[in-house]
Amino acid sequence: MADGGTMFFSVNGLSKHFGGIHAVENLSFTLERGEILGLIGPNGSGKTTTINMVTGALRPTGGTIVVEGSDMAHSPAHLFARRGVARTFQVPRLFRRMTVLENLIVPALSDYAERRSTAEERARGVLQFLKLGHLANQYARALSGGQQKLLELGRALMLKPRLLLLDEPFAGVHPRLLEEIIDHIKSLNRDGHTIVLVDHNLEAIQSVVTRVMVMARGQKIADGNVAEVLQNPDVVRAYTGTRTSH
Ligand SMILES: Nc1ncnc2c1ncn2[C@@H]1O[C@H](COP(=O)(O)OP(=O)(O)OP(=O)(O)O)[C@@H](O)[C@H]1O
Ligand SMILES: [Mg+2]
Repeated sequence: MADGGTMFFSVNGLSKHFGGIHAVENLSFTLERGEILGLIGPNGSGKTTTINMVTGALRPTGGTIVVEGSDMAHSPAHLFARRGVARTFQVPRLFRRMTVLENLIVPALSDYAERRSTAEERARGVLQFLKLGHLANQYARALSGGQQKLLELGRALMLKPRLLLLDEPFAGVHPRLLEEIIDHIKSLNRDGHTIVLVDHNLEAIQSVVTRVMVMARGQKIADGNVAEVLQNPDVVRAYTGTRTSH
């Protein structure tokens, strides 16, 4: 990209309150184009709520979300998608009674009003990239948990994203497929996609990112080099506190 390396995404003072629950509180961070950021934190720390807000699925209580110079905090999801912001869901949201190929084509037809032949050609390309070509005509419900995660990633890729937010792509995935998913994420990042990677598998996260941001109780408690952040006493305390309180 012509202006590679420049900051193109920034969140400032972002908050989401559900009644008295401060799911996200005064969160600020920036992303440079082409960067890959790990986002971690104990259960309920606000990671998914953050993804929901920065993709237009949830309207923030306060704060700004600036994408390439415009504040999109109050924009609907389809405008984020048009800007190249796409996400995957923690629990795959697939059309279980449709085939793998149809799962990829349907969003392209509805969101892009694309011709079916063009959408199908792109879908076959995505399946080839994800090494799922042999499953094109299988029903989505017949896929393993890891394959469903891959298809979920494929659906996001059909939106031609520049910023991809992945919500727990490694959860419940067989170790062999986990390696594959890691390779796909690395390869997408090499190809210029900016990525935010949320997961609880710290080993997998560390094999992909150099920068990690940590949330606890809705707030950012650390952001920086992954090795240093994981030794940060606040981070250690946040994780230990969760473990002993359950
Ligand atoms: N729609 C909602 N209504 C009320 N409370 C909510 C809602 N969505 C999330 N919360 C609360 O907000 C907090 C943050 O939840 P969130 O799902 O963002 O956490 P998370 O970091 O993604 O957790 P996990 O690692 O378990 O996926 C939690 O206390 C959760 O119960
Ligand atoms: Mg979550």
